[in-house]
Amino acid sequence: MVNIHRRRSWEIADRLVTPEHAFLNRRALLAAMGFGAMAAVAPSRARGEEPDPTADLYPAKKNDAYSVDNGITPEKINANYNNFYEYGTDKYIAAAAQALVVRPWPIEIGGLLEKPLTLEFDELMRRFPLETRLYRHRCVEAWSMTIPWSGFPLASLVEFARPLSAAKFIRFETFLDPAMAPGQNSFLYPWPYVEGVTMAEAANELAFLVTGAYDKPLLKQFGAPIRLALPWKYGFKSIKSIRKIEFVEERPVGLWEAIQPSEYGFWANVNPDVPHPRWSQARERVLHTGETIPTRIFNGYGEQVAHLYEGLDPSDLYM
Ligand code: MTE
Repeated sequence: MVNIHRRRSWEIADRLVTPEHAFLNRRALLAAMGFGAMAAVAPSRARGEEPDPTADLYPAKKNDAYSVDNGITPEKINANYNNFYEYGTDKYIAAAAQALVVRPWPIEIGGLLEKPLTLEFDELMRRFPLETRLYRHRCVEAWSMTIPWSGFPLASLVEFARPLSAAKFIRFETFLDPAMAPGQNSFLYPWPYVEGVTMAEAANELAFLVTGAYDKPLLKQFGAPIRLALPWKYGFKSIKSIRKIEFVEERPVGLWEAIQPSEYGFWANVNPDVPHPRWSQARERVLHTGETIPTRIFNGYGEQVAHLYEGLDPSDLYM
């Protein structure tokens, strides 16, 4: 995504056909060609893992207030086109991401709270009723998908955590384990992946903690066992594989903002009128139809979120 090596994102495909890359990562190449889906979505038992203890919670009841008009991106396409830099810098990380170990998965909920605590993911899960929502997902790289996410509102977790009034932001952090995630050996990125939202954004109905997709627990490449979905913001805000949720006073600096603040801002609200410094955001390529459609302000979710940004200069919506 970011151009640390001064390479444009649309040039990544070329790299896939270099002999060295193909040799080193044949499974990823097969996945890219559509042959890897079986391996990527094989049930956990087939990989010698225990069955997922939360599988009984799916399918979660559909909440029809959240729907899409463009069809759902088939799982096979979504599960083989991911951004998860902990497992590689291209889109074909599905096979590599199977190395992610999701149990045990203690989640630290801390910072400015009445009572900081650490909860195991399976325990946290049982505290909130799950629902399924169809959401659009717009990457800053100008491609998009539509996904049936299952999970619970971030607002429910905030209510459960009981933050102090001094808390102004929530800071999310992914795991840090370079032995399990080879990408984290790269010194080019300030690991672990971090993202943040304001308390008002966290309270918005759209902010969703995702634990499943396509009527089952999250596949590893989607950011198992728990990730964020903020559908009105560029996808990089939707942090995967969350281990730490901290209520803080100061605005958190996300991984991409830390690397390239002139290209990736804190707000990162989808805005077709503010181009990325290196490409236009006016249109997006829909992965499952191949068409290029106009991008909408707030990714089409203005009705729910525009009020959060009143008073902010429209050109600041992105940065
Ligand atoms: N979270 C972590 N931990 N690591 C990442 O590399 N990539 C982000 C976001 N969350 C990323 C992450 C980006 S750039 C996008 S577009 C989405 O995850 C991609 O989610 P998807 O693979 O489910 O489409």
